[in-house]
Amino acid sequence: MTVVALSGIRGGTGTTSVVAALGFALHTLGQRVLMVDLNPRNLLRLHFNLALESADGWAVAGQEDEARWSEALLQVLEGLHLLPYGTLAANALAGLELHQRAHPDLWVQRLQTLHAHFDWILLDLPATLADGQPGVPMLPDTVMRLRVLEADAACHALLSTEGAGDDYLLVNRFDPISQLQRDLLLLWGERHSRLIPQVIHRDEAMAGALAWKSPVGYYAPDALATRDVRSLATWLLAEGGHDA
Ligand SMILES: Nc1ncnc2c1ncn2[C@@H]1O[C@H](COP(=O)(O)OP(=O)(O)OP(=O)(O)O)[C@@H](O)[C@H]1O
Ligand SMILES: [Mg+2]
Repeated sequence: MTVVALSGIRGGTGTTSVVAALGFALHTLGQRVLMVDLNPRNLLRLHFNLALESADGWAVAGQEDEARWSEALLQVLEGLHLLPYGTLAANALAGLELHQRAHPDLWVQRLQTLHAHFDWILLDLPATLADGQPGVPMLPDTVMRLRVLEADAACHALLSTEGAGDDYLLVNRFDPISQLQRDLLLLWGERHSRLIPQVIHRDEAMAGALAWKSPVGYYAPDALATRDVRSLATWLLAEGGHDA
């Protein structure tokens, strides 16, 4: 099993959309996949046709009895599973935050229990500026960390000031018409050995997929973004699959 933790270098870079699209693409390649929403905003579920009002998720299931967290796991397709965060009131969320800080290895243990059932676990994490900030759960050392960014000046500034450590960098919403984007991609390729050699293009199909409440590969199988994500999945199989 390989665990991939995805987070934006800042908010809004498309992390949740990429988790949904990548989960679907890996499943299409015959992999057993679980996608876990670790972002309290709880939006990943919307890519799999769950109702806006649906409040179920691991954080809600584990509220009364912590051992029941995994009861919120949903099968989307055979071999493709989703664990939504759930919707918590602000005070319950603050309580959960405290609990997670008191038990920093909570997700290390939980991921261990899922080990045998999946080839890939994709984690949708909130955007962070640096590793180890409060609210970001401790994860096993073997986790493959993937930072999603856009080729713009804000991401460039954050990358220059914060660095990326050993994290892989994935460029989303790439627009080859933009000179700035092309220049930044070249520059990052020279500076960062872990820049993934597959971008995901800016594609209306990616935006339309969420409006249609499905991952892009389901919504638009022939779209450019779908082909990008399929190539990304193949790259991951070669790069990360050896941890299985
Ligand atoms: N490659 C793309 N082309 C066009 N639109 C995209 C692309 N990727 C994501 N989007 C759109 O951008 C919007 C934000 O995406 P998303 O919610 O996945 O971002 P996020 O990084 O998870 O945000 P947050 O930091 O709030 O969690 C969505 O409407 C999504 O459809
Ligand atoms: Mg998100």
